[in-house]
Amino acid sequence: MRRLRATEPLRRLVRETRLAPSQFVLPLFVCEGEGVRREIGSMPGHAQLSIDRLIEECRAAHTLGLGGVLLFGIPAEKDEAASGAYAEHGIVQRALAAIKREVPELVLITDVCNCEYTSHGHCGKVVGGDVDNDATLAWLAAAAVSHARAGADMVAPSDMMDGRVAAIRRALDEAGFPHTPILSYAAKFASAFYGPFREAAESAPQFGDRRSYQMDAANAREAMREIELDLEEGADMIMVKPALPYLDLIRLARDRFDVPVAAYQVSGEFSMIMAAARNGWIDRDRAMLETLTAIHRAGAGIILTYFAKDAAKLLS
Ligand code: PBG
Repeated sequence: MRRLRATEPLRRLVRETRLAPSQFVLPLFVCEGEGVRREIGSMPGHAQLSIDRLIEECRAAHTLGLGGVLLFGIPAEKDEAASGAYAEHGIVQRALAAIKREVPELVLITDVCNCEYTSHGHCGKVVGGDVDNDATLAWLAAAAVSHARAGADMVAPSDMMDGRVAAIRRALDEAGFPHTPILSYAAKFASAFYGPFREAAESAPQFGDRRSYQMDAANAREAMREIELDLEEGADMIMVKPALPYLDLIRLARDRFDVPVAAYQVSGEFSMIMAAARNGWIDRDRAMLETLTAIHRAGAGIILTYFAKDAAKLLS
């Protein structure tokens, strides 16, 4: 077996899994203001950006040949009704219009969820201490339509309410956006690895947790059922999230469903590598490429990752 491992050119020739910048999607956080770049302590190199700074980041993403960006909004004010999520001139809606104007070729995907916009930090309307599924669907549908109207190329619901894909599909079609695809966070788990993101997006739940809507880490068959239902409801692409702790599910999904499969290397996966690298315990670049390769090898054609720019630079 060692003959084909002898030199880098030989290893390159027989390599089975290849990464390319066009597979990576970069998550970005947009906030109010001008000239703002508020560093996120737990996610080195990432920051909340005002729209002008966001545009610079989008230009860089486009120049590096990334597959796209995924936008998260941090509104100035939060309320019980998540009104910033679907406001015509909300932060994400204005950001979309500005990026479309300045970097028209970049693929813009929006995270459709309420947790950044609710005062209590839950992903939907809270009724009697729990998130009310069906009441939340109307907010999600309105948010998706407002994103499409503002220039989103694709919407990505991440809330884990039942029936949200059907509700969003119907609303998009009725509003005149039959061509806007839906990337569903179909198999999204209640995970410890979202910790740094919740600092970044200021979206930690103020009471309880997300276990009554996000999936239990132990369940693989249930994940396949989630994916199947979302596809029946009209999802164009599906996602498994987090990525590295769920490689088996990425593989199962790849083998079972003939749609593009995405995986989200989430904030905690990123921050663990960065923290260990900063301590000199592991090599950042190698850990980055090894994890991305593993996620791709498991079957994800698209990887949402905070390493998108760094990995693209290393690969070019
Ligand atoms: C919104 C959302 C979350 C993430 C993506 N969309 C947070 C959560 O569900 O608590 C996590 C992304 C990351 O950790 O990088 N619901």
